[in-house]
Amino acid sequence: MSSVIRKVALVGGSGRLGPYLLKALHSDPAFDVTVITRTNSTATFPEGTKLIKVADGYPDDEIVKAFKGQDAVILSLGYQGGQHHAALAEASKKAGVKRLITGWGGNVANQEAMEIFPIGKKVAEDIKALEAMESPEWSWTAICCGLFFDFCLEVGFFGIDALTKTATIWDDGEQKFSVTARPTIGLAVTKVLAHPKETANRRVYISSFQCSLNEILDGYKTITSSEGWNITKVTSEEMVANATENVKKGENVMYSIGRLGLATAVKPGLQADFAAEGILDNQMLGLETNESSHEIIAKVLKA
Ligand SMILES: NC(=O)c1ccc[n+]([C@@H]2O[C@H](COP(=O)([O-])OP(=O)(O)OC[C@H]3O[C@@H](n4cnc5c(N)ncnc54)[C@H](OP(=O)(O)O)[C@@H]3O)[C@@H](O)[C@H]2O)c1
Repeated sequence: MSSVIRKVALVGGSGRLGPYLLKALHSDPAFDVTVITRTNSTATFPEGTKLIKVADGYPDDEIVKAFKGQDAVILSLGYQGGQHHAALAEASKKAGVKRLITGWGGNVANQEAMEIFPIGKKVAEDIKALEAMESPEWSWTAICCGLFFDFCLEVGFFGIDALTKTATIWDDGEQKFSVTARPTIGLAVTKVLAHPKETANRRVYISSFQCSLNEILDGYKTITSSEGWNITKVTSEEMVANATENVKKGENVMYSIGRLGLATAVKPGLQADFAAEGILDNQMLGLETNESSHEIIAKVLKA
């Protein structure tokens, strides 16, 4: 395959992650970006964004036509759009696209983590299907970025709340895990596209930094106040058991799935600290990050 990727299509350019991918791609003159959005979507995009509208459900004939002439396709689909992952991957190959980029989760290579977290399991299965599709003309990259640090803070995903001064700390709170802020994920995607050879047919591990629940709590305390916090201690074993049971019973499902997602980061032994595992690709990509957890916490609290 020619080593240059210039024309890039982004499916799911709105949503929680998409705008950050789009911003990074737009900021890099190396790329000519087209967003593929659904006809019935209410999403809006920055002025000047090249758009192709396709019918909801991404019908094959429309999507193959939309992908024609693109060097790379990026899929950033959420829970609902994720059902189209396999068909969109096949369509990219049919259209002559060289590289498909997907992923956006934790360490999908860790079997136990994927068994715990149903969404992670689906991502791991999607990646397995991509492995079976590899050809000299078509390849894939799965970005493993750990939790979206900024997003997780915004929605209280870590179980730490500055308003009520409450925090739930799993085990001793010291387990380190890799996290990435969404602007850095966007930047990393441009680096992946600039390194097609090194990133072909593999998981690419990135992070803004490694942190622990205790460090995040310290960040909140430093920025707000260290007094008056009410800390609940739980074990990862009990959290996983309870959340798994709730999902099975159909009780509190979204919250419980979220706890299982957090478990893939904070439960010991799940290889969620990419730096400690020696699998981090920041250096190979030339991805320089000088973010700090405290800075991002302060920014999110201010907003
Ligand atoms: N690691 C983490 O902490 C973390 C956190 C959140 C998400 N993620 C991952 O990031 C990726 C993107 O997730 P996201 O949360 O950004 O996705 P999202 O906001 O739910 O959806 C992204 C886009 O998918 C398109 N879409 C296609 N079919 C859809 C449907 N039936 N309903 C709604 N939207 C549909 C929409 O684009 P148009 O409207 O333009 O068509 C939508 O804006 C996923 O792989 C997700 O698992 C990871």
